[in-house]
Amino acid sequence: MCGIVGYLGYRNAQDVIVSSLQKLEYRGYDSCGLAILNSENKIEYMKTAGKINDLKEMLIEYRIPGNFGIGHTRWATHGKPDDRNAHPHSDGDSSVWIVHNGIVENYQELKTELEYKGYKFKSETDSEIIAFLISDLLKQEYSFVESVEKTAEVITGSHSVLAMADKDMRKVIGFRKGHAGGLVVGYGNDEMFIASDMSAIGEYTNKLVYLESDQLVILGDNSASYKDIGGGYFEPDHSFIEVPDTHFSKDDFDHYMIKEIIEQPRSIYNSLSNKIIFNDDKIEFEDFILPNDFTKDINRIILTGMGTSLYACEVGQYFIESLANIPCQTEDASELRYKDSPIDENTLLISVTQSGETADTLGAMSLFQTKGCKQILISNSVGSAASRIADIEININSGIEIGVASTKSFTGSILSLLFLAIKLGTDKSTLSIPEAESLILDSTKLPDLMNQVVEMNPQIEMMAKKYSKYNHFLYLGRGLNKPVAFEGALKLKEVSYIHAEGYSAGQMKHGPIALVDNNIPVIAMALTDNYYEKMRNTIQEIKARSGILIGLVTKGNYDLDGLIDDVIEIPECPKYLTPFLTIIPLQLFSYYIALELGYDVDQPRNLAKTVTVE
Ligand code: M6R
Repeated sequence: MCGIVGYLGYRNAQDVIVSSLQKLEYRGYDSCGLAILNSENKIEYMKTAGKINDLKEMLIEYRIPGNFGIGHTRWATHGKPDDRNAHPHSDGDSSVWIVHNGIVENYQELKTELEYKGYKFKSETDSEIIAFLISDLLKQEYSFVESVEKTAEVITGSHSVLAMADKDMRKVIGFRKGHAGGLVVGYGNDEMFIASDMSAIGEYTNKLVYLESDQLVILGDNSASYKDIGGGYFEPDHSFIEVPDTHFSKDDFDHYMIKEIIEQPRSIYNSLSNKIIFNDDKIEFEDFILPNDFTKDINRIILTGMGTSLYACEVGQYFIESLANIPCQTEDASELRYKDSPIDENTLLISVTQSGETADTLGAMSLFQTKGCKQILISNSVGSAASRIADIEININSGIEIGVASTKSFTGSILSLLFLAIKLGTDKSTLSIPEAESLILDSTKLPDLMNQVVEMNPQIEMMAKKYSKYNHFLYLGRGLNKPVAFEGALKLKEVSYIHAEGYSAGQMKHGPIALVDNNIPVIAMALTDNYYEKMRNTIQEIKARSGILIGLVTKGNYDLDGLIDDVIEIPECPKYLTPFLTIIPLQLFSYYIALELGYDVDQPRNLAKTVTVE
């Protein structure tokens, strides 16, 4: 889950690489570095534990002149995030330099072979071995291209790699195997770029070539040639991409996370605005076509994703089952990709991924592609690796999300799923057009309803201060709010490093209630819906055991006074809209607790925005 970048041109390579790496920091921020071919034709490097700003500081003191180079921002897999394990890595003679995203699954075995040949390693990483393998082949008189290609064939797992060698100085060779964050080549005027994704190089060029798995590119002075690994050279297709919204500003907010929570009424409005149009007695998506017979033979739907996107899928499952009456299941993509699921061409896969680059989600999508299944993608990143697999892409349209903890993309994803469920319902005639129209009309109230919840910001901030001393939390919900409970607990874990668990309230008696005492606040979603009485009973049972309770209740319901310690009032709304509202106070609660504890809210420890390795 690292970001990699290469530059060959006339500008100062250090400046281009650092600025591009900053845009890739969402992929990892444990350490970073670069290697540059300097004006005396020597490869120089600089690397450090820490973030790109630290590297930037070092490079102010020590500028490396040169117009060719590679860079890396790391999310540590093998070896601590220290200077020694930072990329780029070189062979023992510093004649080959590489940056790598992925995991060399057979590295132990390869390392032993190389050690047997007398090579000595400097780092604890699996990546370093790639530089040694290339170097060893160069010593056997293979060309640089052949050495990289043979190395690509020998290492197992998923990879994106860039390599430079002093034997063939004015070249950068890149290759991609499997799904490890992708590689895109950018054509400028008299300059070439290569990066993990277009966001890193979009300010310089929009003429791009995406490398597919098992392809290699040889970049030189204003040139690029493409080769299948172990095969022949080929001419690639170029894409001309409209560079997406790269509004990276925090505006007046202290952090991206709070900005992205607070702007949800607007982002949901944007999500709404590109969705549905009525066409006589049909409903169509505005930004893409779902062919008429697309769902005709579909008899089963699997929804998949990871993290927040997985919980969005669970909400989507409720929507689809109740509005379209199609058997649905939600599966963690990291499990689904290795499962022997009974799937065939009548199974529809719906993948949800904010980034469109999550390795496990891509793995599941690739598997379903081989089985001939139809696929719909729900994503916030147009033109991602996932969009190149799916048949149909629904754009969440929430705007770029920078905070590592997903917030507005959750509400954007569930809105897309709600509309997809409505469309499937009308296609399958489980929903009449007036019923669908009324649901869509309801959804147009979301910006206003969400705004009412966002206005509770100061109240939630106070509450977070009060509860920040606790080390454990339970989140309970039922129905549509069960996945919200899981998502609320995930948010708290991610940014404030506090242990939190989500449960369906019905599970409490089956074990978790043993945890209840006055040290573990329980956040219970008890809206006035068909689960209310059951939820009330659970709350009562927790109270009877001296539990501490925060209740999310429908505005104006005072029935739980005396049972709950703190209340968060959610405006009354149609049932399908509740998860859009209940999640906001939980996001705010996590943000303010993390702030109170003094943590880096936008870049929490051990995490990365996009998880491009398994
Ligand atoms: O880009 P994706 O939606 O595929 O990412 C999936 C998860 O990695 C992501 O939701 C992660 O759990 C977030 N940090 C949650 O806040």
